[in-house]
Amino acid sequence: SGMFTYDPGFLSTAACQSAITYIDGDKGELLYRGYPIEQLAQNCDYLDTCYLLLNGELPNEGQRTDFHKLVLDHTMVHEQMQFFLRGFRRDAHPMAVLTGLVGAMSAFYHDSTDVTNPEHRHIAAIRLISKMPTLVAMAYKYGKGEPFMYPRNELSYAGNFLRMMFGTPCTDYQVNPVIERALDRIFILHADHEQNASTSTVRLCGSSGTNPFAAIAAGVACLWGPAHGGANEACLNMLEDIQANGGLAKVGEFMEQVKDKNSGVRLMGFGHRVYKNYDPRATLMQETCNEVLAALGLENDPLFALAKKVEQIALEDDYFVQRKLYPNVDFYSGIVQRAIGIPVKLFTGIFALARTVGWIAQLNEQMADPEYKIGRPRQLFTGAATRDVKPANQR
Ligand code: CMC
Repeated sequence: SGMFTYDPGFLSTAACQSAITYIDGDKGELLYRGYPIEQLAQNCDYLDTCYLLLNGELPNEGQRTDFHKLVLDHTMVHEQMQFFLRGFRRDAHPMAVLTGLVGAMSAFYHDSTDVTNPEHRHIAAIRLISKMPTLVAMAYKYGKGEPFMYPRNELSYAGNFLRMMFGTPCTDYQVNPVIERALDRIFILHADHEQNASTSTVRLCGSSGTNPFAAIAAGVACLWGPAHGGANEACLNMLEDIQANGGLAKVGEFMEQVKDKNSGVRLMGFGHRVYKNYDPRATLMQETCNEVLAALGLENDPLFALAKKVEQIALEDDYFVQRKLYPNVDFYSGIVQRAIGIPVKLFTGIFALARTVGWIAQLNEQMADPEYKIGRPRQLFTGAATRDVKPANQR
């Protein structure tokens, strides 16, 4: 013993069996439960997608009505959560706040903390999906110094979130249907992505039998990193940086920097561990980007022009072509979110909100799998061989 397959970064190790999401990275294909992401984005809303990911099938009319009602009936969070939130600095990063709030849910909802109990997992799933928008909006309002907005259950999932974000008690907030649809689509596109870093984190965490809220909080923490969910924030910061330093005229220079390995600069929103072709989500996001900018009269948005220029150069440049680096979902989602009025710091929080259903569906699948075991990677040991401890004066 002691000999294990060494696979740094799990490039070729399947850690589980899963029937939820299928990716063909060479073709640039993404399916949730067999349905192409393009068809889901076109014909379904986010809550249909949630139902599909959790249950394996799209809901029929009755199931759809019941599920929408169930989720929207649980959007309010325990009133005491406010006081927990108020312990944070107002300038705290929303992902720090969100990690804390989701983790704290296990201390608020004691009747759904046994991850081995399917009924508990079901209640925890509904609570997490229902309450994430409320928590993200609360984190935003808190940073802004504005009063928290209670959810309104007659609105759609995305519409309710928009109102909690941008409404105030002194105004009647009108949901713009184009923005509502765009946000819903962002949620659909981010809902699941098989065994990525945060999902693997959730599975590993849940495999120890910890409670579902703690496992999802671990997923939120992992998602925060700039190589994962933090890429949308990093991507927009990058575009704003180029804009501030000469804009379109300087794109070529910036791209040279990206290609120089010693610069340490990566093109954010580009490249993917699995997609070695155009990320299908990026195509849909670019389409949504066009729609939103047109609806808001922002067609001449300079960052959009920059992004298109960056993409055009990359698609023709040997460096990117040889390495099969294409735009990923985060490349355009930041521009859409910024146009909607979502601050850059909150982008990864939106991703976490949308991915929560994927995390919980994967966790449920793992816990129901008769072959599941506690996750326990081994290692290739590279340290010292056995040796004796010497007295301090002889070391
Ligand atoms: N800019 C410049 N060079 C890159 C980039 C990039 N964005 N991505 C990869 N490369 C190069 C890399 O330097 C390496 O070159 P070489 O073979 O000469 O050493 C080659 O391409 C392969 O890269 P890798 O790091 O081995 O690939 P990976 O599969 O380990 O990394 C990645 C995938 C997504 C971490 C990486 O492409 C990256 O850092 N991209 C930027 C961050 C980003 O957009 N992340 C979002 C991913 S999609 C949403 C999500 O999952 O959250």
